[in-house]
Amino acid sequence: MHTVKAIYPGTFDPLTNGHLDLIARAAKIVDQLVVAILRNSEKATPLFTVAEREAMIAEATSHFGNVSVATFDGLLVDFARQQGAKAVLRGIRAISDYEYELQMAMMNRKLDPELETLFMMPGEKYTYVSSRLIKGVFELGGDVTALVPPSVVDRLKRKTAAKLVGQHQP
Ligand code: PNS
Repeated sequence: MHTVKAIYPGTFDPLTNGHLDLIARAAKIVDQLVVAILRNSEKATPLFTVAEREAMIAEATSHFGNVSVATFDGLLVDFARQQGAKAVLRGIRAISDYEYELQMAMMNRKLDPELETLFMMPGEKYTYVSSRLIKGVFELGGDVTALVPPSVVDRLKRKTAAKLVGQHQP
């Protein structure tokens, strides 16, 4: 039988409802979906540790029978090959995402012509949601409860409380 395993890679700092929406859509199409957190991101220091991000994704996706969480380092194509995955899933929210995503998809195709990139659009109510904006809005006291899973709201609150305690230490 022909089964399709796909990798959904990203930073997920933190997981948003936009990511979850995409996971739900993809889980209906592929046989197995591996949400893969990049361990050594070049991006600015993440708010959440890789273990925290792994836990929040596992919590929010436990009801899907065919979704798992993993972490990876190095090239995505190597991880995909190691996992026996035929496809990479990426979300495109707006045309502004397209250029970067196209570049990555073409580079990955150059590195491994057998690996396909699948683009899916999240629900339109999530087109403006990004992890970066979530962190920014939350840090300034804005309400993000409709935009991230409840466990992520709790974790954001705990992180902020821990930071404040740290700041008040002599
Ligand atoms: O959520 P992000 O930060 O947009 O995800 C970016 C990610 C993790 C998909 C991308 O940086 C990646 O695949 N990094 C692994 C290194 C790699 O394979 N680079 C070559 C492909 S461009």
